[in-house]
Amino acid sequence: MTHDMNSLLNTESFQALAQERLSKMAFDYYRSGAWGEWTLQANIDAWEKIRLLPRALVDVSTRDMRGQLLGMNLSFPMLIAPTAMQCMADPQGEVATARAAAKAGVPMVLSSLSTRSVEDVVTASSADVVMQIYISSDRGFTKALAQRAQAAGCKALMITVDTPVWGVRERDIHNGFRVPDGMSIVNLQRHGQPTGHSGSGIGDALGWTIDASLTWKDLDVIRQAVQIPIMVKGILRADDAGRAFDHGAAAVVVSNHGGRQLDGAAPTAEALPAIVRAVSDRGPIIVDGGIRRGVDIVRALALGANAVQVGRPILWGLAAGGETGVARVLQILFQEFDLAMALAGCADLSAVTADLICPRP
Ligand code: FNR
Ligand code: LAC
Repeated sequence: MTHDMNSLLNTESFQALAQERLSKMAFDYYRSGAWGEWTLQANIDAWEKIRLLPRALVDVSTRDMRGQLLGMNLSFPMLIAPTAMQCMADPQGEVATARAAAKAGVPMVLSSLSTRSVEDVVTASSADVVMQIYISSDRGFTKALAQRAQAAGCKALMITVDTPVWGVRERDIHNGFRVPDGMSIVNLQRHGQPTGHSGSGIGDALGWTIDASLTWKDLDVIRQAVQIPIMVKGILRADDAGRAFDHGAAAVVVSNHGGRQLDGAAPTAEALPAIVRAVSDRGPIIVDGGIRRGVDIVRALALGANAVQVGRPILWGLAAGGETGVARVLQILFQEFDLAMALAGCADLSAVTADLICPRP
């Protein structure tokens, strides 16, 4: 039965519908955090602790929420976070997400563990596509993948640095998670070998795609292989943010991987302020983890972020209604953000300053 996407009013309703539509294995994979899932929940709770002090009697009759990031135009300051294996949610997978991103005017970050090829995703729509990269134990393969993404027309690369090993998602182990038959991690086929079809959990299924021996030097190798800008994703410390810029990053993404890697890692809203103090003069700072309402984007900007990324709610939209579902999730986030800005007395992004945050007693 098709469901009227307009009757869903918030991203949480999309999660409920997605749970009805998805197999238990797919839903659990998308939803899970690592171990006790403390960080997963703390990400959400930490945004709620940022209380706002709206400005009164500001003319907000005309509003402009547009922004720019590394040469890309954003209709409002968000990107679609890279999330793996979207064909489990919809037959069109990442292509459907890209088409919805294009309509909404937000960039899509494509996971290197996608189930549609980077070429298919870039050519499917006019969306700006950023390719996320895991540096694998096969460095030559990763370098070639980075160059392939550039050749396909990706606007930037986003190197993920919080996966020396895979976090343990216990539900995936219970479910014997593996890439479903008929799907494959298309960008990572080596020597005709499919990836991810054996396994009990992601560690078993996708072992070689990451490398525990990685260091900052390995980032240089990828950066030198392409001309497009590099963002570094998975930073929680001010010193690491500085190191990322020292190694030529054009932007950093403050992230704990949606609570899927080190459970016990700080929620991103708590890690962000020190990073903003240390490197906000060096390049854009993006933050993700637990953004569920448009007002969370106002909170993130007030803390000094330039933009946010949203992960799971996009997957819920895709599972609930394919391209239309993702489009509706993006519309909800835009409308909530735009109205929250108006209610806070902010007519454009430059009006969001630190004084919008209520000091803790
Ligand atoms: C992810 N994330 C992720 N990150 C990455 O760099 N490459 C990837 O392939 C994936 N895959 C992935 C799959 C799934 C199912 C999830 C939920 C997450 C992490 C993602 O980019 C982002 O950091 C978080 O999802 C943000 O948190 P929220 O918005 O999901 O709370
Ligand atoms: C995950 C990987 C693919 O979090 O990033 O499942």
